[in-house]
Parts: sequence; C-alpha cells; structure tokens
Amino acid sequence: MWAGRFRQPLDPEFERWQRSFPFDCRLLGHELEASRAHGRALRKAGVLCEEELASILFGLDKISDHAKASADFLKDEEAEDVHHFVERKLVELIGEKGYKLHSGRSRNEQIATDLRLYVRDAIDELRELLADWMEALVAKAEAAGNSAMPAYTHLQCAEPVLVAHWLLAYVAMFQRDAERLSDCRKRVNLCPLGSGAVVGATLALDREAIAADLGFDGPTPNSIDATSDRDFVVEFVNVLALLAAHLSRWAEEMILFSTQEFGFVHLPEAFSTGSSAMPQKKNPDLLELTRGKVARIAGAATSLLVVTKGLPLAYNKDLQETQEPLLDAAETALNMIPLVTGFLRAVEFNYERMQTAARSGFMNAWAAATYLVHRGVPFRLAHEIIGKAVQRCLEKSCDLHELSLEELRMFNPTFAKDFYSHLTLESVLGIHDVPGGTAPARVRQAMAEAKRSITSIRGVTHAHA
Ligand code: ARG
Repeated sequence: MWAGRFRQPLDPEFERWQRSFPFDCRLLGHELEASRAHGRALRKAGVLCEEELASILFGLDKISDHAKASADFLKDEEAEDVHHFVERKLVELIGEKGYKLHSGRSRNEQIATDLRLYVRDAIDELRELLADWMEALVAKAEAAGNSAMPAYTHLQCAEPVLVAHWLLAYVAMFQRDAERLSDCRKRVNLCPLGSGAVVGATLALDREAIAADLGFDGPTPNSIDATSDRDFVVEFVNVLALLAAHLSRWAEEMILFSTQEFGFVHLPEAFSTGSSAMPQKKNPDLLELTRGKVARIAGAATSLLVVTKGLPLAYNKDLQETQEPLLDAAETALNMIPLVTGFLRAVEFNYERMQTAARSGFMNAWAAATYLVHRGVPFRLAHEIIGKAVQRCLEKSCDLHELSLEELRMFNPTFAKDFYSHLTLESVLGIHDVPGGTAPARVRQAMAEAKRSITSIRGVTHAHA
C-alpha cells in the first residue's frame, strides 16, 4: 500500500503485530458500502469513467458475495487492515483499475466512516432489541395483575407494592437507555468522507452527495476533527456501560429472588444450569453472566477514554486501539439482550410467596402513622406511637392489626375502630393515587404509557431505516 518510499522490508514480527485485519474484518460490509459511495463520487468528479465505475461496483459486490459464501475468504495473511484487504481483492477480481478507487481518499477517513456506520447500525439494532426486552417486562407486569410484593430499601422490607410497579421501574431505566442511544445517534450520523488524511481530499468530491448516499445527515464540519474524532465511540460505549449496569441490577434482584429463602422466582430450566457436584442444584448462570458482563463493557469504556485522552491532532495509529473495545462492547450488548428477554419470558413468579411477604414485616406501619396524621397527630409523634405499637407486637409475636383497640389507645387515644381498615394490604396499596403513583389504577396508566414509549422506540428506528 505504501512501500514506494521504503528501501527495507518491514520487520516481520512488527508487520504482523500492527495489523488490524484480524478484528477490523468485521467492518467489511461497512467498508464496501462506503467504497461504493466513494466510487460514485469519483465518477461525478470525472476521475472514473462509467465503465470503470461499473467494474469497481461489480468487484465490490463480488467481494461481499465471497465473504458471505465462505469464512475462508477472509483468511488473508497479507492484508494489513480491512481497507487494504478490499483493495487487494478488488485488484485480484477486476485488475489494475481497482487501484483507482483509492484516488482522493485516505484510510484515516475510511476507518472513521466505517466506525460511524458500524455504530449507527448497532444503535438501530439495539433499540429494536431494547423494545423487545421492554415489551417482555411490560407483559410480565400486565400478567402480575394486582399481585403485591415487598418494596425494599437497604434490602429491608419497606412498603408493599404491586409487582407490576417493581417491573416498570426497569422499563423506566431502559427507556432512558433507548433515549440515550438515539441522542448519541445524532452525533454519530455525520459523514467524514472527503476529509482526506487530515486537511481534505485532493479531488473535488461532492461531500453532500456522498453523505446522502450513505444515509448520513450531512458531512462532518472539520476534516482534522473528523479523521481523529472517536467521541462517538466513547459516548456509545458509555451508554452501553450504563445499559449493562441496568441489566446487572435486574439480574442481581432475580438471583436474590430465586434463592430458596426468597422463593419469589422459579428459574426456567432452559436458561439455568445444574451442578456437577450437587444433584439438587439449579443455578442462575444466565443472570450471573449478565451481572458479570458489565465489567467488560465498563472496561471498554475506560479503555477508550484512555486511548484518546493524550492524542495530538489528528490521526494517530493509537486510534486503531479503539476498535476492539468498541466491537467487543457492542457485540456483548447485542448478544445479551435477546437472552435476558428469552429468560424473562420463560421465568415464573411465585405470586403467593410475594403476596405473603408483602403482608408481613409491619410494612403497613407508615400507612398506620398516616392514619393518625389525618386525625391531627403531628407525624413525628405518630411515628413514635406506631413505633411503640410495633415494639408491642414484637413482644407478643403478632401483627399491628392484631392489637386490640384498648391496647392501641394506651399509646394514643386517637385510634378508632376504622383504624383496622387502613391496615389491609389493599388499602395500603391504594394510597398513592397520584400521577406516577403506586395505586393499581396509576400502575395501569403507567403500563399504557410504557407501551406507547415502546411503540415510539420502534417508530424512530423505522424512520431511520
Ligand atoms: N487500520 C487503521 C486504523 O484502524 C486504518 C487507518 C490507517 N491510517 C494510517 N495513517 N496508518 O486506524
């Protein structure tokens, strides 16, 4: 590709070591797409004649066909990177005129373009997968009906809540992740082609037309930046790290809830494993790996920032090191989401256990204190009064509703017969009847809202396609 100026051959070990083809071969489809657009721009600029362009486009299509037909086609010990590979194959297929495709362009803008195309595709795919995943969460929330469970703070029982509201907490997280992906997409979707190696192409290429050809919103505004910018990679992988952290939190709760001690969740056999030693075991490996994968994605995010932080403008070969963390993080996320979706669809909740847990542990204590507040007792005092009542229950091993009115009145005379109806699970669940609240009608509203947001996630993806 560049041997003309050199009198000595490269050290063979160095030559092998500096190649990116073993990993950037995954960008082949995008490299071909960008090359077709560049070819058409060269035709418009009068560098290629119609016949040469046709031959080049034919060659590029053949390369794509061969790559699809056999993995062996990508075995190339000579190719330095995917750009070199395509050039070599093109010349093999159509002869010396294949070299003309490289007129007026640099690999620096090519790799920047390929990576943008890759990230854009990954975003679109991820948004679809997230929509499926969120749909599975909403379906579970719907199926849970009015079943209740404990809500925890500090992993201690706090208040009872609808199972559906708990599941919708995850929908809220993933909705933000989907929004972050589309926001990131706006900055990704600009075309570096025509930036040359650093200060622009040596030929008069129609940058607007190339950008439109590739479905970009327009050309990048600055060639020095465009050839050396990997912000969009750093940003994208950080969005993935947060998404993976959300999946990890969900996985952790499912692991905990599947323990014998909780018993809220039956692990689906199709997504669990046994132990080679202990015959009784069913292990939540899918969930554990989901929790573990966040490490590599967060690691990739850190790598990317470190690679780019000290680079002088513009292109430096260090930038080649941004490829593997990106590819690994994206593929990890793309592979993981369909699996957690399959798991969630197959998982069964033990609503009875959840409901029983929701009734115990004095989780109606705050509601009990609120009863007193409505009758004029300052909350601080009400808190203390109910605290004493709970203490009494602990001594007697009973629940609040099992204390007699006489016993209650010893703590405060405000208690009346209607107190007991405020302690039932149904009554406690119905309290938060405000927008975003946890009363059953509000949760149903939130569910409808979530479905609309899923539809719009898919809508945006389709509008881009
Ligand atoms: N494989 C290279 C990379 O990923 C392509 C760009 C090479 N440019 C250069 N000036 N050596 O960064």
